[in-house]
Amino acid sequence: LRHLLTMEGLSRELILSLLDRAAELAEATSGPEKKLPLLTGRTVVNLFFEASTRTRTTFEVAAKRLSADVINLQIAASSTSKGETLLDTLKTMESMQADMFVVRHESSGAAHFFAEHAAPGVAILNAGDGRHAHPTQGLLDMFTIRAHKAPGRPDFSGLSVAIVGDVLHSRVARSDIHGLRTLGCTDIRVIAPPPLVPVGIEAMGVRVFHELERGLEGVDVVILLRLQKERMLGAFLPSLSEFHADFGLTRERLARLKPDAVIMHPGPINRGVELEGDLAYDERSLILNQVTYGIAVRMAVMAEILGETAGATGAGA
Ligand code: CP
Repeated sequence: LRHLLTMEGLSRELILSLLDRAAELAEATSGPEKKLPLLTGRTVVNLFFEASTRTRTTFEVAAKRLSADVINLQIAASSTSKGETLLDTLKTMESMQADMFVVRHESSGAAHFFAEHAAPGVAILNAGDGRHAHPTQGLLDMFTIRAHKAPGRPDFSGLSVAIVGDVLHSRVARSDIHGLRTLGCTDIRVIAPPPLVPVGIEAMGVRVFHELERGLEGVDVVILLRLQKERMLGAFLPSLSEFHADFGLTRERLARLKPDAVIMHPGPINRGVELEGDLAYDERSLILNQVTYGIAVRMAVMAEILGETAGATGAGA
């Protein structure tokens, strides 16, 4: 793996090997000494042109746990505000001998642009580009589902997964659907009002529901998505209360799911919109587990890409 730009096209074997490695790295860094020497001397640059709490921070934590040096370029205070282009920003930071860039940008395709122009040996990780892809979120969501709903099973066949909310503007939904399909899930449901469902999404192997209660019937996993107003550009903007009334997860609606179903959300959550406020940290909610798993998954991806294979994980090294 040279760069990680999308979940689309990643093989089942590669996904499973990254998830296995993430589990090993989580175990190896679970004690009081959380650092491994896998990326000593390597430099990782976080370039976040769009806001982030979880992704930027867990990439930084992951890189530091692998002993890499981390630079967080403060975009608002950088020379991009003086008109410096993406390309010149990349080339300038490359000149400081960076080994890897973690890039988030509001434009779909930005990470591909960086990958096309990166110097040989410099890796690009997509931390979310527009509505296109968020591959490490996809991987950590697969890690979460595997850990809680399919431990020890070879694939996700037999699981029903519902993705609820603003699928149209969601890079997470696309990455999750690719991951779920590759791992053998054959019952993937998209539940949203018609204007928030991408035209032709059925071709990705999902069933579309416009009524929440019907769509939730008997599912094992429900993945909630926020209304991504920053990408709506004035097109369809349901009021938050209308959205909650029709598509918000409530205690009453939870009864539609399987009794042992789990609730996921990539965050940030909007309490009282996509879910009833106190469901966020309900015993069925894995929302905070997802954040923690993100560290291990991002460690696995960085270790894989920077080619450090000492003892497979360095665990116990
Ligand atoms: N899930 C996710 O991408 O969250 P952040 O925007 O906080 O990084």
